[in-house]
Amino acid sequence: MPSPWWRARRDALLALADAQTPRYVYDLATVRDRARALRAAVPADRYLYAVKANGHADVVRALAAEGLRPECVSGFEIAHVRQVLPALDPAEVLYTPNFAPRAEVAQALADGVRVTLDNAATLDVWAEVWRGHDVFVRVDPGVGKGHHAHVRTAGTASKFGVAGADLGPLAVRAGALGVRVVGLHAHVGSGVDEPEAWAQTARTLAAHADAHFPDAAVLDVGGGLPVPTGGAPAFDLAAAGRALAAFRAERPEFEVWVEPGRYLVAEAGVLLTRVTQVKRKGDVRYVGLDAGMNSLVRPALYGAHHDVVNLSRPDAPVEGPAEIVGPICETGDAFAHARPFPHAQEGDVVLIDTAGAYGAVMASSYNRRPPAEEVAV
Ligand SMILES: Cc1ncc(COP(=O)(O)O)c(C=O)c1O
Repeated sequence: MPSPWWRARRDALLALADAQTPRYVYDLATVRDRARALRAAVPADRYLYAVKANGHADVVRALAAEGLRPECVSGFEIAHVRQVLPALDPAEVLYTPNFAPRAEVAQALADGVRVTLDNAATLDVWAEVWRGHDVFVRVDPGVGKGHHAHVRTAGTASKFGVAGADLGPLAVRAGALGVRVVGLHAHVGSGVDEPEAWAQTARTLAAHADAHFPDAAVLDVGGGLPVPTGGAPAFDLAAAGRALAAFRAERPEFEVWVEPGRYLVAEAGVLLTRVTQVKRKGDVRYVGLDAGMNSLVRPALYGAHHDVVNLSRPDAPVEGPAEIVGPICETGDAFAHARPFPHAQEGDVVLIDTAGAYGAVMASSYNRRPPAEEVAV
């Protein structure tokens, strides 16, 4: 596993922390590296970036410059990318809403954005919204995958997509409205540690296209590439690429699109924060930070692992386990439990790694505490 970018940049990061904590720092060179690695390993006709992972303007611009098109989940994200990328043709945007309001979907269609239909019932109740448009359909392949139940986005327990059994009737209803289904889409979850997953999704979508959608020329297999942390082995991106290449050789008539989020930006981001207090209670050592779950909620929400480093004491030995916690009034406000950690004291700068995806975008002002600001370098 190559050393993360920030190891060689300690002095610069400490200077950034001196100016302000808590603070997200994004390394744009790492963003570009991941985009190039994706393109080199995975054969796709179109590479999209799931903007929900990190909407920072410099990150969005860097990925657009690498040729990635935006995938958006809300009208607000569409407006944001169009503001950040003024020359962007709306037809290049893929909008994959879920339970979005009628007006938002209608606006996207009117603007010429490529819209994904996620609920067959809306063909009945919003017939005039859809009539005559070309759309993608989000298919639920039936089995969700991913690092936590909350990020598995397929199967009846998930609110996303149209079940396979409902696609036939959907095709009939769409045909009656002059709606052409020109692509099928699926995203089964995030942090899917299976190199075969995209190819499996592509085969499932191809079978549905064969059965019901003769105009579906595009198969979008979603995102979900994992970013291993805590010393776990690297994901075999080349194997994922080979599996997709094998599918493409079988079914060359389809375009294949991919739309990762986390893979492109997670490792580019760190959260810099400062120790506020250290406390001992019984045998337990608490190291308190000025960043809390209102800046980075993934550990509380998903039990996500983030490496945590005392940047002020890079060579200090482990002193023992610590609860690494924030200042928010919730017991769940923790970044790590029983984590081997060096000595720490008030004022130390602490770095939380792989924080570039689903970090700042999920921030809140809970407790009226402003979340970490963001800077790109
Ligand atoms: C439709 C869709 N595409 C792509 C992604 C990106 O997933 P990831 O960040 O795991 O690559 C998501 C994440 O929620 C999604 O819902």
